[in-house]
Amino acid sequence: MSGKNATEVLLADAQGIARAATILERGGLVAVPTETVYGLAARADSAEAVAKIYGAKGRPEFNPLIVHVRDAEQAARYAELSALARLLAEKEWPGPLTLVLPRKAGAGLAEAVTAGLPTVALRAPAHPVMRALLEKVDFPLAAPSANRSGYISPTTAQHVLASLDGRIDCVLDGGACEKGLESTILAVRHDGALEELRPGPVDVAALKLRYGLQRSALAKGGGGEAHIEAPGQLVRHYTPGKPLRLNATSPKGEEFMIGFGEVIGDCSLSVSGDLNEAASRLYDCLHQAAVSGQPRIAVAPIPDEGIGNAINDRLRRAAA
Ligand code: TXA
Ligand code: MG
Repeated sequence: MSGKNATEVLLADAQGIARAATILERGGLVAVPTETVYGLAARADSAEAVAKIYGAKGRPEFNPLIVHVRDAEQAARYAELSALARLLAEKEWPGPLTLVLPRKAGAGLAEAVTAGLPTVALRAPAHPVMRALLEKVDFPLAAPSANRSGYISPTTAQHVLASLDGRIDCVLDGGACEKGLESTILAVRHDGALEELRPGPVDVAALKLRYGLQRSALAKGGGGEAHIEAPGQLVRHYTPGKPLRLNATSPKGEEFMIGFGEVIGDCSLSVSGDLNEAASRLYDCLHQAAVSGQPRIAVAPIPDEGIGNAINDRLRRAAA
């Protein structure tokens, strides 16, 4: 749809999920909660439906989408799963880990989903609403975060409406997202090398330890290659539309202060200094800062450990 009709808000109960499934079958756009952020879903096997995602978001066409599947078995229809990829999919899914794998040609995905790359990004999400939807339909779901391109990702249905109301068919309201940061993206290469393309809730260093993968693993991504590999990982991203100052211990002038731990602010990521809580509240605080009267934003220092890495990655891009 193209901006004329209001976006339906559906309660994420059995009836709402059934209605959303019907809209998807007809090639429509549905915003749906996942454990990371809200996704903007369309059937991944339809060029028309996928084109609507790019249109509604204003997303550059060179930026490929994540394909959401039920499990490793469904993933294997669309990608070549090496033994290592299969292990990770079977052990870590459902969950906030996206695997970039060699794409199977002729498997029925719309071309625009992978934007011409020889790889495809796949994830089996853990959120019960997204899972119920994937069980109901017989196609995988392409779903980027449900925000206008470049803007802050949504962790509530209200955030989705703030940027996409009237541009999408419906939003399934399933409350706030638990993790609050987009999935970790991990490329699994032919030779078994692993490359982290986007830090997220799954800690790749911990993953390597858990499965004894240190020897086969390459250094963490983030250099030039990662920028080509994950085109959406543009330096400037997740922007609240106002200047943002990092590592601030107190506000200067007319800044909206986002606090953490002992640094208090107009809102706090976590008063107790809990990094998981901070991740889950990051985008909500940025949304509050964006709509506040203050023309600038300051954010307290966040320790660069565990999910703090992913928080700082998003903050640096928001500040760029
Ligand atoms: O948690 C998430 O991952 C959320 C939920 C909805 O699943 N989705 C999400 O999608 O964050 P999006 O489109 O906002 O970010 C997907 C990223 C982009 O940076 C894109 O460039 C990258 O994944 N990507 C997609 N396909 C890729 C591929 N074949 N190779 C490398 N990067 C890819
Ligand atoms: Mg996004």
